[in-house]
Amino acid sequence: MTTTTTTETPVLTATGVTMRFGGLTAVRAVDLSVHPHEIVGLIGPNGAGKTTFFNCLTGLYVPTSGKVAYKNTTLPPKPHLVAKAGIARTFQNIRLFANMTVLENVLVGHHTRTKEGLFAALLRGPAFHRAEKASTQRAQELLEFTGLTPKADHLARNLPYGEQRKLEIARALAGDPGLLLLDEPTAGMNPQETRATQQLVFAIRDQGTAVLVIEHDMRFIFNLCDRVAVLVQGEKLTEGTTDAVQADERVIAAYLGTPFEGAPGADEIAEVEAAEAAETAGAAENAETATPPDTVARPEDNQ
Ligand SMILES: Nc1ncnc2c1ncn2[C@@H]1O[C@H](COP(=O)(O)OP(=O)(O)OP(=O)(O)O)[C@@H](O)[C@H]1O
Ligand SMILES: [Mg+2]
Repeated sequence: MTTTTTTETPVLTATGVTMRFGGLTAVRAVDLSVHPHEIVGLIGPNGAGKTTFFNCLTGLYVPTSGKVAYKNTTLPPKPHLVAKAGIARTFQNIRLFANMTVLENVLVGHHTRTKEGLFAALLRGPAFHRAEKASTQRAQELLEFTGLTPKADHLARNLPYGEQRKLEIARALAGDPGLLLLDEPTAGMNPQETRATQQLVFAIRDQGTAVLVIEHDMRFIFNLCDRVAVLVQGEKLTEGTTDAVQADERVIAAYLGTPFEGAPGADEIAEVEAAEAAETAGAAENAETATPPDTVARPEDNQ
């Protein structure tokens, strides 16, 4: 684990990020910063708003309110501008070009940040060829770094699941980001692959890219992260060292689904529980007059 140098300009400063979908507030006033050389975890139960928060950070969603800055420069909510500024990501649902080779997938990632414009590409002059050569060399280095060199010419769709996740990481790194966002990088991996991913994330940090990682595997998170933030029902419940977060009873309660006093969403949970209890009581009363199972209505009766 590294010590955080908080004097360095953060690679991420999210301030008051809120995302509403109609009546649902998926992310509510979340502040979070990540400093260079840090690995920060973002955890929380299913539906807590973690992916939505990533989507707000990367411009995939335009937040209802709040601000996202990279190295103190506010980012416009446009994915290509966020990528160009230096924030790369992987997706919870893998997004690769299935019919392109492993190497080609990484090359696509590199083009998000190359300076050569459309005309250079059309003219295919010396500058274009130099850039192409440099891109290919960088892509090959990244395949080496992620252990995918033997698969360079394979189609992405033919890779096993764990390697597809690695390829997504290689592609995200191709733009030389200052911050990498990983959304459930070990989902569907076996323990051996998970350990390898842990080593890969440490190596990414060591080569100078800070990491913000969402994951449900707590062992992975607590082994890996310098700091962990916890989202519950769209709100940041707490943030701290792995030891502090692990020992926090509110975090345990949030995962076990036991609301504590003052928990985000506790009022709604209490309301739902009361409604469910009332329904159960009603059902018990009606049980004596209920339709016997052998006279269950046929589906077409409802049309
Ligand atoms: N595009 C959308 N439109 C409407 N509601 C959405 C949209 N995206 C997410 N939501 C809702 O926002 C809430 C948060 O979802 P989100 O996917 O961010 O959770 P999560 O913490 O990533 O969960 P998981 O751990 O299961 O991936 C959920 O209630 C979800 O249904
Ligand atoms: Mg998610």
